[in-house]
Amino acid sequence: MIEGIEIVRTFKMGEVQVRALRGVNVKIRRGEFVAIMGPSGSGKTTLLNQLGLLDTPTSGKVVIDETDTSSMSDKEKGKFRLHNLGYVFQDYALLPELDASENVYISLMMQGKTKEECESAAAEILKAVGLGDRLHQLPSKMSGGQQQRVSIARALAHSPRVLFADEPCANLDSQTSREVLDLFKKFNTEKGQTIVMVTHEEWHAAYADRVIRLKDGVVEKRA
Ligand SMILES: Nc1ncnc2c1ncn2[C@@H]1O[C@H](COP(=O)(O)OP(=O)(O)O)[C@@H](O)[C@H]1O
Ligand SMILES: [Mg+2]
Repeated sequence: MIEGIEIVRTFKMGEVQVRALRGVNVKIRRGEFVAIMGPSGSGKTTLLNQLGLLDTPTSGKVVIDETDTSSMSDKEKGKFRLHNLGYVFQDYALLPELDASENVYISLMMQGKTKEECESAAAEILKAVGLGDRLHQLPSKMSGGQQQRVSIARALAHSPRVLFADEPCANLDSQTSREVLDLFKKFNTEKGQTIVMVTHEEWHAAYADRVIRLKDGVVEKRA
């Protein structure tokens, strides 16, 4: 359902060209939970950003459900992301002045849902991530694990085709990481949620169905 075809991404740093991805081919099926691993600087975040339409490849293309996204305008891509994709980041990226419910609610509002739909959907998804009793708490009053669960609720509230997560447990201790990974696994097995997660921990990757290993901007061939 998501296919990256010969993806190349180079960054210009003054005179120097950094070749972050050097021809990556990946295929991720609907309902799969895939981990992307590799050493620091191997291109994991860059690949996730191409597959998640947060960045545009220098060459090559990303096809999502038969839609060749390379022919989309930036506006079309933005709309596609809003309605079809969800993101979880290492640093949670919550709005600090909004409570848990409002953080989820605002992203649903942006998708053009009614107030009633937003309110009930926000409460429902926050319950599903175990925060039913903290709907009106501010992020600053929550632990890292709780904040990450709010961000997961926000990412999943509109039932995206794909959830992208870039090192979602990097700032969490191992017990809290386990809770977050259990949650991913639950949405994957119970709802068939497709998940693409970057991690550098083997035990995190063990939650996934499959691991894609990057090295120096290419997918490592299995030995
Ligand atoms: N915006 C950017 N500008 C310049 N170089 C970048 C940029 N983003 C990533 N890179 C470079 O691309 C390579 C891959 O980076 P990244 O995808 O962040 O790796 P990873 O997530 O595996 O640690 C690194 O050499 C990094 O310095
Ligand atoms: Mg990274």
